Amino acid sequence: MAKKKIAVLPGDGIGNDVMEAAFIVLEQLKPDIEYEWGDIGWEFWKAEGDPLPDRTIELLRRTDACLFGAITSKPKEESQLELAPELQDKGLIYRSPIVRLRQMFDLYVNYRPCKAYKNNPLIYREGIDLHVFRENTEGLYSGVEFHPLPNDLREKMLEYNGNLHKFDSTDGGDIAVSCRVFSRKGCERIVRSAFEFARDKGYGSVAVVEKPNVIRETSGLMVREARRVAEDFPGIDLWETNVDAMCMWLLKNPHDYGVLVSSNMFGDIVSDLCAQLVGGLGFAASGSWGDGYALFEPTHGSAPKYFGLYKVNPIAMLLSVGLMLDYIGDGDRAKALESAIASVIAEGKCRTYDMGGSNTTIDVAKAVAAKL
Ligand code: IPM
Ligand code: MG
Repeated sequence: MAKKKIAVLPGDGIGNDVMEAAFIVLEQLKPDIEYEWGDIGWEFWKAEGDPLPDRTIELLRRTDACLFGAITSKPKEESQLELAPELQDKGLIYRSPIVRLRQMFDLYVNYRPCKAYKNNPLIYREGIDLHVFRENTEGLYSGVEFHPLPNDLREKMLEYNGNLHKFDSTDGGDIAVSCRVFSRKGCERIVRSAFEFARDKGYGSVAVVEKPNVIRETSGLMVREARRVAEDFPGIDLWETNVDAMCMWLLKNPHDYGVLVSSNMFGDIVSDLCAQLVGGLGFAASGSWGDGYALFEPTHGSAPKYFGLYKVNPIAMLLSVGLMLDYIGDGDRAKALESAIASVIAEGKCRTYDMGGSNTTIDVAKAVAAKL
């Protein structure tokens, strides 16, 4: 394996705590990686008006993949208030850097494995093993939004779709519209990634999680593409499910499912549900990748109130490191790391507060490193 270059972006809040944990384990594993650290997060928004500075984008462009911690996102008004005085009134708008990165680098797969590790006191049931493939670049998170709804746009929309007439008595200033944009290519490639995974790992089905009975055009496109893709995978069944019912079924019979595929927002929601089935966000790792780049991060946010307390569970981060190692072709170290994590969980001697213990983030990372 040729030496790989990895961009390291701890971000802010507990992103720093869990990144420190990641490096305790990486220093023990010693993969053939050159690291380059970069800036991202809330402090760069406040000081520079951009949480994702250009220099960071350049850093990503010259590396093979990125290991990412967490960043703070706040609603529009609040983020304005925290800008440095000289940056106020410049029309700067905070947009989630992670969503921007996913779109900028076309990281269309968001892969979220949710596995119930033995002796984890937080799991819902033993043996749960779910793999969520969330479309990561389009859908409701495309950023095509309007408030107020401009009149000319409104008239144009009415020309094509009379359903908007039910808002005739509402002023455009009192209407907000967020567009759910799906492309055929976007649907095709996320479904195909899920099927390829199912084939490679020996799963007999892929469940597409949408709502085509109501959201006919977008969810409909996803399901129709899923049917086409499924034809290329004769041994694997396509299960067509509705997202609402699926949330119930996942709680009732989580063992019935293995590989799930969904659009951006439904996948965001369903993957949090799946994460909770296996212990919560402390266990939720993720990888986002496209054809040319990949980014690995724990699904949890930056939890600023815990920053620097070394209280939070680093397992989601450590599992994300494993996904990254696998992606760069170091499957052996990836497997060794997952076994070490599983064995620390199984022993139950070193646990952060969420698992009922009093160990620190760093203690857990050291316990994992000691198993390697
Ligand atoms: C996630 C998060 C992000 C998302 C937020 C922080 C933008 O919820 O990674 O699941 O919506 O994708
Ligand atoms: Mg989420």
